[in-house]
Amino acid sequence: MNGEQAPLLQLRHVAKSFGGLRVVYDLDLEVRDGEIVSLIGPNGAGKTTVFNLVTGIYAPDDGEIVLEGRDIAGLPPHKITRLGIARTFQTLRLFLNMSVKENVMAAAYGHTSSTVLESMLRLPRARREEREIAQLAEEKLAFFGQRLVGYRWDQPAYSLSYANRRRLEIARAMATKPRLLLLDEPAAGMNPVETGEMTELIGRLRDEGGYSILVIEHDMHVVEGISDRVVALDHGVKIAEGSFDAVATDPRVVEAYLGLRKRASA
Ligand SMILES: Nc1ncnc2c1ncn2[C@@H]1O[C@H](COP(=O)(O)OP(=O)(O)OP(=O)(O)O)[C@@H](O)[C@H]1O
Ligand SMILES: [Mg+2]
Repeated sequence: MNGEQAPLLQLRHVAKSFGGLRVVYDLDLEVRDGEIVSLIGPNGAGKTTVFNLVTGIYAPDDGEIVLEGRDIAGLPPHKITRLGIARTFQTLRLFLNMSVKENVMAAAYGHTSSTVLESMLRLPRARREEREIAQLAEEKLAFFGQRLVGYRWDQPAYSLSYANRRRLEIARAMATKPRLLLLDEPAAGMNPVETGEMTELIGRLRDEGGYSILVIEHDMHVVEGISDRVVALDHGVKIAEGSFDAVATDPRVVEAYLGLRKRASA
């Protein structure tokens, strides 16, 4: 024992193939309590697949995924959510016809103890829970300040800008009360001002929200601005890990990105 606290999340030798194509190979990765770790790499490197493995969408072919000492590999997504991991999706998964607040409430419902029958009959426990969930949703939305203020709560999600939809995705993830947030390209499609705000927001999620964060991001300004540690993947293999400066200048990382550009322009 070296006296260090065990990581919150630890992947050991994790591997996943799809139809003979090796997408993640022998991956070791950890997130410590209170850390912001960025996962970078060219398109198709396997980043989203790592999220899908951690959240139970796929079971790994090999290796362990350990959350606070418990192997969660292969557990179904709803169990993993309950154990404290929440994520956002690269392609957003909002209920566009539901209101902003209902979207957040829907994410929280998986955590209530009322049965469907109790809810349908609107028995006291179900009504109390509905009030609590509405309150929770408002509290999570309030985190986004001016961007998702009160008057927007009752508007349908389709009326939101793209940037606000990304914020709403994060509010939904927060509503499941996770310890670990997985954010898949939170700044994708945002303009420079919004991207700067997202960088600040991710810092606040850790500092004020108390979440540990694993984030996939292509925007290197964001990665530089938020990361305690950066992990670079290429073809499913970890090619570098360390500080932003060390990883961004690592020859293998530079080559992975340049190689992709060469392939794309060929
Ligand atoms: N369910 C699946 N079935 C078959 N192949 C898959 C599946 N999911 C992912 N892949 C393949 O795995 C590889 C890695 O995909 P993944 O989405 O993890 O990459 P990524 O690093 O997130 O890329 P991007 O930056 O474009 O989002 C790709 O070649 C992809 O086509
Ligand atoms: Mg992806």
